[in-house]
Amino acid sequence: MKRDLLSILDLSTGEILGLIAKAEKMKAELAAGALPKSLEGKIVGLIFLKPSTRTRISFEAAVSRLGGQPIFMTGQDTQISRHEPLSDMARVLARYIDAIVVRTFAHSDVEELAKFASVPVINALTDYSHPCQVIADLMTIREKRGSLENLTVAWIGDGNNVANSWINAALRLGFSLNLACPPGYEPDSQLRERAAREANGRIRLIADPDEAVSHADVLYTDVWASMGREDEAKVRKEAFQRYQINSRLLSCAPPHAIVLHCLPAHRGEEITAEVLESPRAPVFDQAENRLHLQMALLDWLIGSQKL
Ligand code: CP
Ligand code: NVA
Repeated sequence: MKRDLLSILDLSTGEILGLIAKAEKMKAELAAGALPKSLEGKIVGLIFLKPSTRTRISFEAAVSRLGGQPIFMTGQDTQISRHEPLSDMARVLARYIDAIVVRTFAHSDVEELAKFASVPVINALTDYSHPCQVIADLMTIREKRGSLENLTVAWIGDGNNVANSWINAALRLGFSLNLACPPGYEPDSQLRERAAREANGRIRLIADPDEAVSHADVLYTDVWASMGREDEAKVRKEAFQRYQINSRLLSCAPPHAIVLHCLPAHRGEEITAEVLESPRAPVFDQAENRLHLQMALLDWLIGSQKL
């Protein structure tokens, strides 16, 4: 039966760890020029209704490096722009291609595509979540820290799609997650309720950013106004002033703590240039791992089909 990746909760703990291990192996194989061409003869469609640098190019590169062929589509050059139902689009595309990667606004759109497509559908970011980002980030944390055991992650800023995926990851992997978000900008309320029920106090909202980072191994932030929220940027800028990762906040964290950011970053808003450009913030290694993790994901879903 086909598998989709719409949410980290679609995966078991073992599958998440298996994907990370596979990505580490494929990263080494790519460096050694020994990557298997496991997507030979496969076509992967990318439907992107929002802009993207990392996700689009890393998926296209992943498909190409594994010997497959990517086809990139926007809303404008498909019948989506003329309101063809996604249920029809899904059934048509599944007759031509082997997997569908989607970036869109409403999460229900990726669910609709997955329901009607007989091929795997991968969520490349919705307003609700960004699973590929966070699984790749876990790979980066393991690479930098050596393990995911006894991990504490501090999320500073907007309770957005990436924050929601961090909650899902903490639910599956059992690490501690401190979320410091301005009042009114907390993550999804249903997810928070689930976390309160299932996480034994490991997933916590902590109003004070200094306290949230005080025992953290990883400080993480993202833009204050996500794609589709640009019109709120001014109001958000005022509400988020205390929620910046800067050298003062970093000095409240343990000396070994690293800083991650999914990028693109707005220097001087959610993070200072000084911190972002420092060796404490390996954000370009983090961006690179998107490629390796997505190679592993595609290989698992439509290539060798092994973890
Ligand atoms: N981090 C991330 O998803 O970046 P893009 O918007 O450039 O894809
Ligand atoms: N939260 C951001 C992530 C971008 C990769 C957004 O949705 O715009």
